[in-house]
Amino acid sequence: MKIKSYKKFEGIFLIDNKFATINLTPGYRVYGEELVRIGNIEYRIWDFWRSKPAAAFKKGLKTFPIKNEMKILYLGIASGTTSSHMSDIIGKEGLIYGVEISERVLRELIHHAERRGNIIPIIADARMPEKYENTILEKVDVVYEDIADPDQIKILIRNCEKFLKPKGLAMIAIKSQSIDVIKPPKKVYKESLEELEKHFEILDKLELDPYEKAHLFVVMRLK
Ligand SMILES: C[S@@+](CC[C@H](N)C(=O)[O-])C[C@H]1O[C@@H](n2cnc3c(N)ncnc32)[C@H](O)[C@@H]1O
Repeated sequence: MKIKSYKKFEGIFLIDNKFATINLTPGYRVYGEELVRIGNIEYRIWDFWRSKPAAAFKKGLKTFPIKNEMKILYLGIASGTTSSHMSDIIGKEGLIYGVEISERVLRELIHHAERRGNIIPIIADARMPEKYENTILEKVDVVYEDIADPDQIKILIRNCEKFLKPKGLAMIAIKSQSIDVIKPPKKVYKESLEELEKHFEILDKLELDPYEKAHLFVVMRLK
């Protein structure tokens, strides 16, 4: 078994060419992922068919802003597949505020969040950030949004205006078909980027096909 750090990004490793993070809670899986022990360290394989940032790495993403000790606002955290890897990277000193509208999926997240200690689940509608401004008492380093909603661009902008540090970083997985089922994805991406560019400097962008159909992954910095 060959292991090396994935040179581009802190806290991410390559084990036999599969992406992995160091398991913050050894012995525990979050979504049925493979666990690999090398020496004293247990790694969790980050499945690029199940998680959009990993699909973006596979497609050659050059900028990924998540680092040790960071504070993250995660919109659409669901049951914790992707956030569990972010939780591994940020470690015990970092924190993820995870907003999710569905009580059913959040129940699964709570179970992992209690064990990990660096995820705060928030049951709320990300379209109304004022409803959880009393829970997020600090500005965050990164906002990540993965919500299939026609207003997903607006949702990101409103949350960044409220919670992101000046010049902070944001990431979004734009789902073309949720924004407009009829328009060709490239047109939806172009219009979405024009909207985002009013507020952010775009640092990196790539399409996630075939791992996620009709999705554009974008990394940007608040202007
Ligand atoms: C594609 S899934 C997220 C998957 C997750 N990001 C991952 O990779 O592990 C989108 C999630 O957004 C949630 N969602 C949809 N609309 C929302 C809203 N307005 N506010 C908060 N969460 C929302 C859905 O319930 C769903 O769990």
